[in-house]
Formats: sequence, C-alpha cells, structure tokens
Amino acid sequence: MTASRGIAVLGATGSIGRSTLDVIARHPERYRVEALSAHSRPGELAELCAAHGARLAVISDSGQAQTLRDALQSLNCPAEVAAGPEALLDLVAMETVDTVMAAIVGAAGLGPTLRAAELGKRVLLANKEAMVIAGPLFHRVVAQSGAEIIPVDSEHNALFQALPADFARRGLAASGVRRLILTASGGPFLDTDADALAGVTPEQACNHPNWDMGKKISVDSATLMNKGLEVIEARWLFDAAPDMIDVVIHPQSIVHSMVSYADGSVLAQMGLPDMRTPIAHALAWPERIDSGVASLDLPTIGTLDFHPPDLNRFPCLALAFDAMRAGGSAAATLNAANEIAVQAFLDGHIPFMAIPGLVEDTLEAAAWNHATSLEEIMRADAEARTRARAAVQGKDKVNV
Ligand SMILES: NC(=O)c1ccc[n+]([C@@H]2O[C@H](COP(=O)([O-])OP(=O)(O)OC[C@H]3O[C@@H](n4cnc5c(N)ncnc54)[C@H](OP(=O)(O)O)[C@@H]3O)[C@@H](O)[C@H]2O)c1
Repeated sequence: MTASRGIAVLGATGSIGRSTLDVIARHPERYRVEALSAHSRPGELAELCAAHGARLAVISDSGQAQTLRDALQSLNCPAEVAAGPEALLDLVAMETVDTVMAAIVGAAGLGPTLRAAELGKRVLLANKEAMVIAGPLFHRVVAQSGAEIIPVDSEHNALFQALPADFARRGLAASGVRRLILTASGGPFLDTDADALAGVTPEQACNHPNWDMGKKISVDSATLMNKGLEVIEARWLFDAAPDMIDVVIHPQSIVHSMVSYADGSVLAQMGLPDMRTPIAHALAWPERIDSGVASLDLPTIGTLDFHPPDLNRFPCLALAFDAMRAGGSAAATLNAANEIAVQAFLDGHIPFMAIPGLVEDTLEAAAWNHATSLEEIMRADAEARTRARAAVQGKDKVNV
C-alpha cells in the first residue's frame, strides 16, 4: 500500500463531495482530509471540516466567511478559513495536498481544477464542465506537468477501466479501439411524450430514477445535455476522434459504458448506480478499495435494455455533438448557455423545453473562434452568459 495521501475536496458540500468523504472515512490509514471547499453552505462546510479533521476550510462566496468562522468556532473546529474564488487556487496548491477531488458544479470549477493539473497533482475529475470547455488546455497542461487526471464521472470511469492501461501513450486507434460507447439512463422523462415535456416541473426533472445527484446535473440528465457534455468530456479525456463516440440508452444504469475493439470484443464496466464506486476507483487507482457499495447481483436485476436516443425529444444531445464537431469556443458557449438556461428553469423563469432553444440560439449568435487560451475560453463563456441571460429576461417578460 502507498503512503497516506493528502486530499482536498472542491465542492465538499455537494453530492459528489459527500460521497467522496464517505469513501475516505472508510480508509483513515490511506487518506487524510487536508482541505474542503463550499460556496453557499458555510454551516455544512464547518460540520464536514469538524467531522473529517480538515485543516483548511475555503468558502468561495466571501460574503459567507464570517458565518463559516462562527460555525467552526461553535464546533470547536480549529480549521483555518480562507474565502473567495482565488482562495481555491491556494487550496489546491497546499504542499500537503497531493490529490484533488474536483467536484464543483459548472464552469466555476475550471480555475482550481486547471491549477491542480498545472501543479502536477492527481486530479479526480467529477467537474465535467471544466473538461468540456477547456479540453485542449488540459491536454497541454498535463503534458507539461505530468498530472494524473482520473475520471470520476461513472461513464468515463467505466471507459478508463475498460481501456488498456497504456492507451494514453499509444492512442486509441493503435490500442485497437473502434468505438467508445457511453450509456445513458434516459433520465426521468425517458418515456414522456413531447407534449407532456412542455409542462414538467423542476421537482419532476430533479427526480432521477437511478441516481441521487445535485440539481444542475439532474436537470442536465433530464434534457440529455448531461450525456452531450459527457460526449465532449470523453473526446478530450481519451483523445478520441468525435466520430468514435456513441451514446446508447440503458435505463437500468448497470452498464456504465463500453469500449468496442477491432476484434469484435466489447468490454463493459458494470455495477450498481452509486457514485462511491467510481470515486473509490479513482482514489485508489491502480489499487482497489472497499467503497461501501454492495456487489452487483445480475439475476436479481434480470434484464438489461439498450436502445438508441431520441434526438427529436432530446435535442440537447444533438446540440452537444454539433458543438464538439465545431470545436474551438463552441463547447464553452454551449456549456455557459446551458448553465444559465438550467438555473432559469430551476428558478421558474422558463419552461423545460425552452432549455434547448435557448442553448441553440446562443450557439447560433456566438462569434465562433479557435479559442486556445484560458482568456479566449472565458471570453466566449462570458459572452454566452450575457446573451443567454438577455434571452431569459425576454422570455420572462413574455411569460408575465
Ligand atoms: N452527483 C453526481 O452523481 C455526479 C455524477 C457525475 C458527475 N458529476 C459532476 O460533479 C460535479 C458536482 O456535481 P454534484 O451533483 O455533486 O453537484 P452539487 O451537489 O450541486 O454540489 C456542487 C458543489 O459545488 C459548490 N459550488 C456551487 N457553485 C459554486 C461556485 N460558484 N464556486 C465554487 N463552488 C461552487 C457547492 O457548494 P455549496 O453547496 O456550498 O453551494 C457544492 O459543494 C458536476 O460537475 C457534475 O456534473 C456529478
């Protein structure tokens, strides 16, 4: 066994953050929790710091710093406090941190995740949006720093497990890989007809049949934008040509993804739908540790179904494929417009089926470019947010 690893969890109060701390707590001899971050929930962050012995607590919304200090004091927790988005960059740079769980939701996670990669840390990547908007940048940074990026998203972790160990050095084609097949549960509206989709509520959209997740990714799963973002994430994580990636609907969420090889073999990774499995795999890789997840009992599951996605009812998936093929800043624009649209839906400002339209309109209006630097990517992100917000305000006025 390797020496104890110092872990920082970005987004500790979220669904992935808490599952990560659950796995870590099962292996105190292997992992030390060095630092935890949150954004809007200082009280919960303080409780997690006290429970897991973190030395540093970072709250990225600086307006919450005093509440965090007070909460830590009331728990007699000696963790130091830092605040603001830039404090996340210092958190990942701590000398005692060698592994960073990147579990902030959305583009807000890009800065600290990229910084951790620049510093050559092991990055456990849940924050798919960071890879979607800045994939080529991660490639350059990892080549220079030697950082390890281990995918946590269940589909990408499954692909990582089904690929040969040296695929990154040899490339997919030379490794005999024909296709990467991402599975999708289809979300809560898999069988909902197009007319009924118009009136679905945020509560219904967040009620995923198989997975217990944060609100943003739950809505993304309901529109299939989550699968679209994952297609782009796979393109960059595995350096896959866009036409190598397929999506198949698999409602049981037991097969987490598959790799199809030149000799006709298809290797699948299976397990119960519980994120502690990929989290434990990423934490311990190349070893295996207990995650707290029960073993899969296939006779109890009985049947595994697979069918193609319906791009007419779920146009977000097609938009993501288009953005991936366009390249440059298109994925950053897609992601930013989607973040604004999803929040507007959750806040009750736009209906569910306005999400794809808003993303498509923003993509069409955007000044596409070959963005290669962080500055260019963030400019495309900011422009898309401004356009999408204006579109939401326009729709809101119409709704009033
Ligand atoms: N949940 C899953 O099963 C799952 C599976 C695969 C991939 N992922 C990916 O993992 C990431 C996290 O998902 P999640 O479901 O865990 O989300 P979540 O439950 O909503 O948690 C998000 C975390 O990010 C923090 N955060 C929110 N806005 C922030 C900001 N502007 N700056 C800094 N931190 C911020 C939150 O802090 P507060 O709570 O204090 O606001 C919280 O700790 C997403 O990229 C998602 O796509 C999730």
